[in-house]
Amino acid sequence: MSVTVRVPAKVNVQLAVGPARPDGFHDLANVFLAVGLFDEVTVEHADSLSLTCTGPGSDQVPLDRTNLAARAAIALAARHGLGDPKVRIHIAKDIPVAGGMAGGSADAAGALVACDALWETGASRDELLDICAELGSDVPFSLVGGAALGTGRGEKLRLLDVGGEFWWVFAAADGGLSTPAVYREFDRLSPHAPEPVASPAVLEALRTGDVAALAATLTNDLQPAALSLFPSLKATLDAGASGGALASLVSGSGPTTAFLAADADAAHRVAAALAASGTCRSVRVASSPAPGATLL
Ligand code: C5P
Repeated sequence: MSVTVRVPAKVNVQLAVGPARPDGFHDLANVFLAVGLFDEVTVEHADSLSLTCTGPGSDQVPLDRTNLAARAAIALAARHGLGDPKVRIHIAKDIPVAGGMAGGSADAAGALVACDALWETGASRDELLDICAELGSDVPFSLVGGAALGTGRGEKLRLLDVGGEFWWVFAAADGGLSTPAVYREFDRLSPHAPEPVASPAVLEALRTGDVAALAATLTNDLQPAALSLFPSLKATLDAGASGGALASLVSGSGPTTAFLAADADAAHRVAAALAASGTCRSVRVASSPAPGATLL
């Protein structure tokens, strides 16, 4: 018997970052929106824990016990007295790897929900969310999907209403960025960052489904840090803007860049312009919001 769970990528429509905390993390006002690019995590009973991964960029995914999907299985098994998990985990990747789109977090949430079903653990939603928060700041959002405001280090979620469909283009960069390195660069560039506050204008644009209003309010406090470490992203942002995007920004800690388009047709035009520009490795179109971790 096997269980497959589908999990979405995310884009941050607001990422407000405060000063570094004593524990090294940063307080955030993080408005997450799940987008329709998905990884699929399949689990089946086995003699011991093992992990495989296929899809674009899968050669960069660790296949040992440090992988977030493996850690999710280990954490759930430990909580339920199951010892070392006896499970084969397969990840079919479609979310850009190390791209600031929460692909690793998605795999963790997917493995957790899949193992819960396979082992008939019967964990409550709150228990699953607790385990998610232990695994990483973005993992709880991968479980819930839709749209949410994340505070604390991003793991405390308030679900948000979304009144329409938004179309995005994502450009994967040649190369990666380490999230801790981007936060360190943020600290260097913004040593006196104010406390992060959710923007009422962003929440209102999501609630009403107003794409022009959302385009006018998108912000990412990590963007200057990502551009400082990866200056060629500026050319990609410019190529999307001249291709007709309503707004262009770095996705999370990057280096994937995100472009908001007026509708599906406009998104495909922006994607074609980006592909022709030679400023990125690959281009994807996706709509939002998308559901969270879902058993197939
Ligand atoms: O929580 P997660 O493991 O995804 O975080 C990866 C790294 O990103 C952390 O080790 C930290 O350097 C940085 N981070 C941060 N503040 C946050 C979230 C992440 O400094 N709120």
